[in-house]
Amino acid sequence: MSAKKVVLLKGDGIGPEIVGAACTALEAVCKKHDIEIELEDALIGGAAVDAAGDPLPQKTVDSCLAADAVLLGAVGGYKWDSLPSHLRPEKGLLGIRKALGLFANLRPAKIFAPLKAASPIKDEIIGDSLDVLIVRELTGGIYFGEKGRKTVNGAEAAFDTECYSVPEIERIARMAFEFAMKRSKRLCSVDKENVLESSKLWRSVVKKVAEEYPQVELTHMYVDNAAMQLVRNPKQFDVIVTSNMFGDILSDEASQIAGSIGMLASASLNGDARGLYEPIHGSAPDIAGKDIANPLATILSVAMMLRFSLDEPAAADDIEAAVAGVLDVARTPDIAADGIKTVGCAEMGRMVAQIISEQ
Ligand code: IPM
Ligand code: MG
Repeated sequence: MSAKKVVLLKGDGIGPEIVGAACTALEAVCKKHDIEIELEDALIGGAAVDAAGDPLPQKTVDSCLAADAVLLGAVGGYKWDSLPSHLRPEKGLLGIRKALGLFANLRPAKIFAPLKAASPIKDEIIGDSLDVLIVRELTGGIYFGEKGRKTVNGAEAAFDTECYSVPEIERIARMAFEFAMKRSKRLCSVDKENVLESSKLWRSVVKKVAEEYPQVELTHMYVDNAAMQLVRNPKQFDVIVTSNMFGDILSDEASQIAGSIGMLASASLNGDARGLYEPIHGSAPDIAGKDIANPLATILSVAMMLRFSLDEPAAADDIEAAVAGVLDVARTPDIAADGIKTVGCAEMGRMVAQIISEQ
């Protein structure tokens, strides 16, 4: 069997540290399961602006297109904040999602039992567990719609456009229904149908796609209500499907409910095997280089990569079990707990690797 190629886009801020720790865990699991992987670095974000004058060099796109999977750290930092928008690191991230056609972003918000105390939500609301899957549309909507500056009544104005076509809504809805079928067969579509034309179309298309999935119980919720319901009663949700921007916002909220934004992984898919895997958090420039970042979201993203792109579900299970296990014995500062050793980013990666090799 030939080696699978994984491109590493470490990016900026804590990106290189968390990807480094995730690679330590990846190597351990590959060794244990006899998986052959070839790792290749490529530039993205501010690091690519500095080295090549472009947040997404064509060479990076070509490498990713030729890979089986892509593992991304994070992009952005103060240093590049004042650059014109085409040179912003974030442009590289949006660009690679678009270039690979990754229209579906899966963001599972799952509470690991030892982290229940880290959730700001009361125990009686969380119960024994929480497991919500947010399916965020990733290559359309206001992120990619027409935008610009103009003059309104003599004053400077700016605009961004939320636009969704029927095929764009159909494919993300289908993806969400498919995941709902594999889980508890409950899907909640989140929109702002009482105000937005794009949401009216969204809702009607989701209803139409629902006819193909009669076993799935479909509900609809306005985004403001969904934001409230997520903290009031998160257990009512199983799979949520929503637009690019609503998904961006709700997934940060869901991550905090699950204990820490440092724990949430994501997979960006287009229906083929190739996917891009990244933690949902950002580059955290304030703590970059201090070896205190939490690499577990990136390590859990590696598990998703093994499951969805590399067809190695047993290795994915091992990583997830090791992460659940490590929380009893070690914590990074963001999830520190009395009586449990606080460790740095690299050490956390080594400890997860150790647990994997001893499992
Ligand atoms: C995310 C991030 C990105 C997004 C930013 C960095 C462009 O917040 O992946 O959630 O908004 O998609
Ligand atoms: Mg975000």
